[in-house]
Amino acid sequence: MILGPTPSDFEDQQPSLEPTFTCMSHNQFDKKSNAWSALFSEPTSELVKRYTASVRFDRRLALADITASLAHAEMLKHQGIISADDLMAIERGMKEIRTEIESGTFDWKLDLEDVHLNIEARLTQLVGDAGKRLHTGRSRNDQVATDLRLWLRDEIDLIVGLLAQLQKALLGVAGDNADVIMPGFTHLQVAQPVSFGHHLLAYVEMFARDAERMAEVRRRTNRLPLGAAALAGTSYRLDRERVARTLGMVDEHGQAQVCQNSLDAVSDRDFAIEFAAACALCMVHVSRLSEELVLWMNQNFGFVRMADRFTTGSSIMPQKKNPDVPELARGKTGRVVGHLMGLLVLMKGQPLAYNKDNQEDKEPLFDTVDTLKDTLRIFCELVAGEVHAETGKKDVGLSVDEAAMERAAARGYATATDLADYLVKKGLAFRDAHEAVAHAVKAAMARQVDLAELALTELQGFHPSIGEDVYEALSLRGSLNARDILGGTAPSQVRAQIARHIKRLG
Ligand code: ARG
Repeated sequence: MILGPTPSDFEDQQPSLEPTFTCMSHNQFDKKSNAWSALFSEPTSELVKRYTASVRFDRRLALADITASLAHAEMLKHQGIISADDLMAIERGMKEIRTEIESGTFDWKLDLEDVHLNIEARLTQLVGDAGKRLHTGRSRNDQVATDLRLWLRDEIDLIVGLLAQLQKALLGVAGDNADVIMPGFTHLQVAQPVSFGHHLLAYVEMFARDAERMAEVRRRTNRLPLGAAALAGTSYRLDRERVARTLGMVDEHGQAQVCQNSLDAVSDRDFAIEFAAACALCMVHVSRLSEELVLWMNQNFGFVRMADRFTTGSSIMPQKKNPDVPELARGKTGRVVGHLMGLLVLMKGQPLAYNKDNQEDKEPLFDTVDTLKDTLRIFCELVAGEVHAETGKKDVGLSVDEAAMERAAARGYATATDLADYLVKKGLAFRDAHEAVAHAVKAAMARQVDLAELALTELQGFHPSIGEDVYEALSLRGSLNARDILGGTAPSQVRAQIARHIKRLG
């Protein structure tokens, strides 16, 4: 994962400040002292600069910062606070800056602390006084909160797209395997036969809820802090709703969404925390699937094979193919859960309003997004395979060994409940039926045979109402077909669910 340059990337960089910053009385950044303003009697220590600077990682917010600044400037002009010429100059400068950033030629300076001051300083260098007017009615406190929300909103949209893709990938494999029988487990012991398609649909449900959670978080993220200024609001007649509309911070009815309390707007990061919580939960779901894949690939199961490009070999054991990808996804879940904890604790002791602590929200958030997106991308491909655009050739994803699954389902008396249900249908109370079947299982176990391998006369020894039709009830297929209830594992139900999901996902 790349979070931008490391501190050592800045080691050679001398504070190369431009002529416009040399006048101490008029500029924040003085060439000789590097002090903030005339108020400071000595420059910030180099160590403190390095400790407090965030540009190494928050430059990732650069495009959101420019977008928000342009919306702010347009509103300032509309309100008559800056001139049309100033706005044009700001737009021209920002265009240039954007090009520089995108082409990698922008000269990021550690001395300018963060992404906001770097961009503003460059703007002033490019367009002069208009650049100095951009910060009217604004503080870095409401600026950074706005940037983070804008950036996160776009990332949420990408994640929702990936979640839809993963659900579709799972639906494809579920559709091919609606009739495939595998042992369903409780306590990791064989419990009842289930359709492999049904098993995969459980994950589709989980990822569908993850997407719902993301949409909820997006709604609360997509609100505008700008106008809160440092903490108390501003005396300029800003039009906050105009800025919100420009930035697409509107609800489903097109109503501008603006943070309603300036102290809250600049200080809380609950949108980031609930996003991290949604990501942690999503990773937990991926992790559960990973654990199953690892288990299913074990030679004692042999239920699935993963394409070789998702596995690795061993440097010593020539026979090995290790499921590194699901193992790592399971491992990376730990770090995403850790980021959620980090963000919660970061917020815990903070008095109102903005505190520098909040600068520490970015790295965990960035890493959460990177980890989740990469994990979802790789799982889409791992499950569904990949079609090459140029050749149309398809690389396989997951391949299923139906026979191995069915063999495993046939072990472990998976249809014992079906025999009990059969007896209930013949008039027994369920508890009595349960007891009779326990005796039958005990007898079958002693002889190391399946219930269906007992002769009719033997079975009748456990209850006289048992007839020839018992063998249908005891068959895996019969057991599966019998669970023809909404949400059940009968293949007809599985197919109905797949159709519902496909329609829902569009
Ligand atoms: N880099 C800061 C952050 O990430 C920006 C806001 C700084 N505000 C301040 N008053 N120092 O939170």
